[in-house]
Amino acid sequence: MSAIDTGARRAVRELRDWLGVVTSPPPGAFTGAFKGSSSDSATASSDDGRRPTWLESLRIPLGDRPRDRQPARDEAPVPDWVAASPARILRAWEAASRKPCGGWFAVEGSRRIGKHPKTFTISGRDVVLWRDEQGLHAAPEACPHMGASLAGAAVRDGCLVCPWHGLSLGPAGHGAWHHLPAFDDGTLVWIQLPGEAPLARPVLPVRPRSAVDAVVRLEGQCEPEHIIRNRLDPWHGAHFHPYAFCDLEVIHADDERLRMNVAYRAFGPLVVDVVAEFTTPSARCIAMHIVDGEGRGSLVETHATPLGHGRSAVVEATFATSERDGFGLARRLGAVIRPFMERSARRLWDDDVAYAERLASIADGSPGPSTLRATRTAKRAR
Ligand code: FES
Ligand SMILES: [Fe+2]
Repeated sequence: MSAIDTGARRAVRELRDWLGVVTSPPPGAFTGAFKGSSSDSATASSDDGRRPTWLESLRIPLGDRPRDRQPARDEAPVPDWVAASPARILRAWEAASRKPCGGWFAVEGSRRIGKHPKTFTISGRDVVLWRDEQGLHAAPEACPHMGASLAGAAVRDGCLVCPWHGLSLGPAGHGAWHHLPAFDDGTLVWIQLPGEAPLARPVLPVRPRSAVDAVVRLEGQCEPEHIIRNRLDPWHGAHFHPYAFCDLEVIHADDERLRMNVAYRAFGPLVVDVVAEFTTPSARCIAMHIVDGEGRGSLVETHATPLGHGRSAVVEATFATSERDGFGLARRLGAVIRPFMERSARRLWDDDVAYAERLASIADGSPGPSTLRATRTAKRAR
């Protein structure tokens, strides 16, 4: 073999490694599972009146296909709308809703909390979060003197200094004002509020030891239940997110676990085939692990946080890992890769928040403004 051949082969292999690493986690979250073959998916796209684009019709597999190693299944496939039984999804949600959260609420990505107090409404309470040399802090957003917002407060010597009359508020508190328990897990920040049986730490799924992580946060007019129920319905994926998923087949579904073969679109026609598994570690979290195929061990961790007044936030962390040699380089380039991971996750959640809002409006019997949110799929079908 000539040196040119060897060099070319190595270049192709490195490109493949690189693409594999960059795209290890499914973009954003795996929200879709579909039963049947690739032709079923293509049919699904055309069923709703929209023909697949030329790019969506092209599929070039990247890496191996774990589904080819699985034994043939006896059962005949059923249409996705049959498999996506509302009773089954509700049962899985009820099982998840019984799991403890310990009073912890995911607030935001760790990187987005700095030395300036930032305000959030969590479960009807206005709070500020900031960090200093001592670490992460959380406290009520209103000054205990006359109620000024502490979102704009200066931080001096470990104290918030109220912008109205200069009251200095430290860890010792002032009257009823006192710091709230806060926790930084390295990727997400959390606060603990009263009202649930407390746990020392938030309940988290098993995360990969070495990963590139990215976080997105979106808000919608719905309850946390509707966000989790969206994720407990993987069958919508091929139909609702045809730009992201193809060849998706649920191979196991019970109240605790959903396992599926799924191929997701990495770049253009490049398709990556994996086995993914959803579990619900707590009532407000659903986790998707890649259990076989490219990026095994990668995780998408979706948290649903109630904000109050019928609003909720999706706080989603993606942890991309890979067994490929090129992963060390990908880790070093995390700052470059992260925006692409966030863009993919945000793109899916733009549509899935619309789904969750629709569930919420159906539940309260008032299909109203929330149903006007146009999803990406709907826009493209017009
Ligand atoms: S309102 Fe904060 S010191 Fe007066
Ligand atoms: Fe989805």
